[in-house]
Amino acid sequence: MKLVYSIAQMQRISRALRKAGKIIGFVPTMGYLHEGHLSLVRRCRKDCDMIVMSIYVNPLQFGPQEDYRRYPRDLKRDAALAGKEKVDYLFVPRDADMYPGNYNTIVEVKGISDSMCGALRPGHFKGVATVVTKLFNIVLPDVAYFGQKDAQQAAVIKSMVRDLNMAVRINVLPIRREPDGLAMSSRNAYLNASQRRDARILYEALRKARRSIEKGERSARRISEEMKKLICKVNSAIIEYIVIVDARDFKEKKTIEGRVLLALAVWIGKVRLIDNMEV
Ligand code: PAF
Repeated sequence: MKLVYSIAQMQRISRALRKAGKIIGFVPTMGYLHEGHLSLVRRCRKDCDMIVMSIYVNPLQFGPQEDYRRYPRDLKRDAALAGKEKVDYLFVPRDADMYPGNYNTIVEVKGISDSMCGALRPGHFKGVATVVTKLFNIVLPDVAYFGQKDAQQAAVIKSMVRDLNMAVRINVLPIRREPDGLAMSSRNAYLNASQRRDARILYEALRKARRSIEKGERSARRISEEMKKLICKVNSAIIEYIVIVDARDFKEKKTIEGRVLLALAVWIGKVRLIDNMEV
C-alpha cells in the first residue's frame, strides 16, 4: 500500500491508472477505521481493479461547537488496517493543501440537505459536498462507496453527482452493527462503559418501530412517540430528532406508506449518535 500525502501526486497516480484502463474504486473516510469502513473496502475490491482510500478529517463539515478537535485520529492504526485489507493507495491530504488561504468555493445541495442533520448541523452538508467534490476531482474514481448509516449524506452525494453530471457511480452499503445492534461509528470510541450500554437503546427503538409498522401501525406520530418514550427511559439519552421520512426524497411522512426511513440522532452524554432503518 502506498501512502500519498500530495494532491498533485494523487492526481498523477489516478490519471495513470485511468490511462491504463483500471477501474478505480474509492472509499472516502475521516479515519479511525472500523468494520463499517472495512466492509466498504472489501466490496470495493470485488468491484474494482484499484482501491483508493482517503483519510481526511474535513474541518469544513464541523460546526464551531462540534468535535473537530477531539475527533479520534490514529493514522498508524488506520494505515495498518487499510494495508491488511489491501488498499492500494491511502490518500491523506493536508489541511493547508485542501483549503489554502485563497480557497473560495463551496458546493451546496439544496432540498435534501435541509432536514434532519442538515437542519441541526448548519453548514454540515455543504462541508461534506465540497470535500467529496474535491476528493472526486483528485482521485477520479469510477465508483465510490459510502455507508447507509449516514443515509442523508449518501442521498446528498447521490443528488450532487446526478445534478453536476459527475462521472462516478455511488454505491451505498448496509449499516454494520456491533453484536448488540449499535451501529458502528468512529464516534463510538468516545463512549464510556455505561454510555456504551445505554447506546443500545437506539437500535432497540428502531426495531420496536419496525415491529409496530409490521403489525399495521401507520401513524408516523404514534411511532415516533413510542420511540421517544423508550429512549427517554435511558437517563444519559437526549433526543435531537426522531423522524420518519420518505426513503427517496427525505420528506417527512405523516402516514407510513411505501419505503420509509426511520432516522434518529440522540446524544448519549456528550456523544452524538445517529442511526436509521429503512422499512
Ligand atoms: O462519512 C464520512 O466519513 C465523511 O463525511 C466523508 C464522506 C469522508 C466526507 O468527509
